Amino acid sequence: MEKSRKILVSTALPYANGSLHIGHMVEHIQSDIWVRFQRLRGHQCISVCADDAHGTPIMLAARDEGITPEELIARFYAEHRRDFDDFNISFDNYHSTHSDENRELVEHIYRMLDKNGHIDRKSIVQAYDEKEGMFLPDRYVRGTCPNPDCGAADQYGDSCEVCGSTYNPADLKDAISVISGTKPVERKSEHLFFRLASFETMLRGWVGRLQEGIARKLDEWFDSGLRDWDISRDAPYFGFEVPGLPKHYFYVWLDAPVGYMASFKNLCDRTDGLDFDTYWKPDSDAEVYHFIGKDIVYFHCLFWPAVLHGAGFRVPTSVFAHGFLTINGQKMSKRRRTFITARQYLDNLSPEYLRYYYAAKLGPGIDDIDMNIEDFVQRVNSDVVGKLVNIASRCAGFISKQFDGKLAPKLPEPDLYQLFADAGDRLAELYESREYSRAMREIMALADQANRYIDEHKPWQAIKDPARHAEVHGVCTQGLNFYRALIIYLKPVLPGIASASEDFFNSPPLNWDDVSAPLLATSLQRFKPLIQRIDIKKVEAMLLTPSESKPEQRSVKNEIDIDQFLNVELRVARIVKAQAVEGADKLLELQLDLGDEKRSVFAGIRSAYQPEDLQDRLTVVVANLKPRKMRFGISEGMVLAAGPGGEDIFLISPDTGAKPGMRVR
Ligand code: 2FM
Ligand code: ZN
Repeated sequence: MEKSRKILVSTALPYANGSLHIGHMVEHIQSDIWVRFQRLRGHQCISVCADDAHGTPIMLAARDEGITPEELIARFYAEHRRDFDDFNISFDNYHSTHSDENRELVEHIYRMLDKNGHIDRKSIVQAYDEKEGMFLPDRYVRGTCPNPDCGAADQYGDSCEVCGSTYNPADLKDAISVISGTKPVERKSEHLFFRLASFETMLRGWVGRLQEGIARKLDEWFDSGLRDWDISRDAPYFGFEVPGLPKHYFYVWLDAPVGYMASFKNLCDRTDGLDFDTYWKPDSDAEVYHFIGKDIVYFHCLFWPAVLHGAGFRVPTSVFAHGFLTINGQKMSKRRRTFITARQYLDNLSPEYLRYYYAAKLGPGIDDIDMNIEDFVQRVNSDVVGKLVNIASRCAGFISKQFDGKLAPKLPEPDLYQLFADAGDRLAELYESREYSRAMREIMALADQANRYIDEHKPWQAIKDPARHAEVHGVCTQGLNFYRALIIYLKPVLPGIASASEDFFNSPPLNWDDVSAPLLATSLQRFKPLIQRIDIKKVEAMLLTPSESKPEQRSVKNEIDIDQFLNVELRVARIVKAQAVEGADKLLELQLDLGDEKRSVFAGIRSAYQPEDLQDRLTVVVANLKPRKMRFGISEGMVLAAGPGGEDIFLISPDTGAKPGMRVR
């Protein structure tokens, strides 16, 4: 018997300014399966999470709504908790980074880092919005790309979406603040920097605990040199003020992972026998794991262990990164109605379906997983309903009708049952190493075997012969014990079905080891259908429920007068031809018909449109824009489109009846 382990698990903290969607659920389901598996094996496994409540976007979102950040984060906190509960995510604690525990821990960590010589103070120059009285994060400055070959308008302060160059906000031409629409100035302020490079040796030694793909990424980062990390932000900011440095706040990414500890601390403070230091002291024998998406590896595999080590805490045992979710092979998209919020899903479908489907797709690596909607319906109906639950429904009726609801006193084929019990060790290894898709395959192979057993013994025929009733009793008892074994193995994935099955078996909560002894001579509850097949209409309803849309980008309050507007010559154009541009994965080259002339325009809309879908479509073009030389040719105008970017770009089209060349007002 394996020694009982002490394990602490976290999942990435969702930002407190947006709803959860089924992409988030990949991670929380992956982690919840692992956590439930560990508990089922008798280990102490504690799972914590929290809302990530600080930072500029949250401060501005609250301001936009005319409420305080505290009000905004309280609303999302309640929404997130409800979504997680309804997905059966078994957190031991769900806290917030805007909490006393987090403030105390962050201040303690900062003081320790400072005392140990890991903090530098440096004066830096940043874009500053004089009208709003605030420094501007790079994403809040927009302007014309400084790359002479590109010159794309309306690009972010840190990188150009059209040509891919990266730069500083000060390099942008015609830069404006997204918040006030005014031109930012440069201003100096003092910032705190964490000396990451001092931890290189420790980190290089730590890398061995990580997934291979992640370890390789870290090696690249080591090779390109570890740079100091700016851990402070200037007021106004929603976060924790730096002690001894008024008007300076800790950067949200410093206090977010500390939120894992804070959530655990909050739990310890109200749980007898649970001791914070036992888990976090440097020589702790407890295990600590963080489940994260592959996009936040830098924070979790470099900054976080270094910060912990520098402040005198233990480092994580490992970090488990996963890939992103695609739907029908593409990024979730509102346009294609595949952007599915957690609530939209839950309003229509059982959480068990998605938990099973993700388990059937997830491996231990960082590959993206695809949810093909048809495959989802087919797979869940075939495996969970057609194979698993079918075993119980084929046997339960006979037991209740013919045998007074009681199982037979012995199994007709104990060796065959033993085969199911023996599968436990191998399945446990697969769960432990997060090889869920393999585990599901092997469990379903056992379910096939159980169904074959019932097919071969045909209880529905044998029952017609009174002399064979004892045989039917045995066959159905055997079948229900197969089912019980499979339910034990699937309990981490399907907690709802498992709990209903425990009720049916009149059983206390089942543990992994309960598989070793079959259930015999026991009275069962009346069998109730455990789950329905997925109704395709429900899936359609889910996809059709419009998800709440909020503007992705703050509007620019940059007033112009009517004359300035009238200087812009907007005309209707017909797209004669659209084609991809080699070497520019964001651009399409459009041949436009403006009635009396033809134009060639490069548009950064490739992420949202297939060239062939644009042929013959009408759109609106800025016709008097000075031709711009780009790396791939000359762009003679600009087409108008709405949306934040990526797949959410919506080309503006005039109503039917408009003709190429017409002036747009
Ligand atoms: O990327 C995100 O959604 C962050 N809110 C994750 C934070 S995880 C941890 F560091 F707190
Ligand atoms: Zn550019």
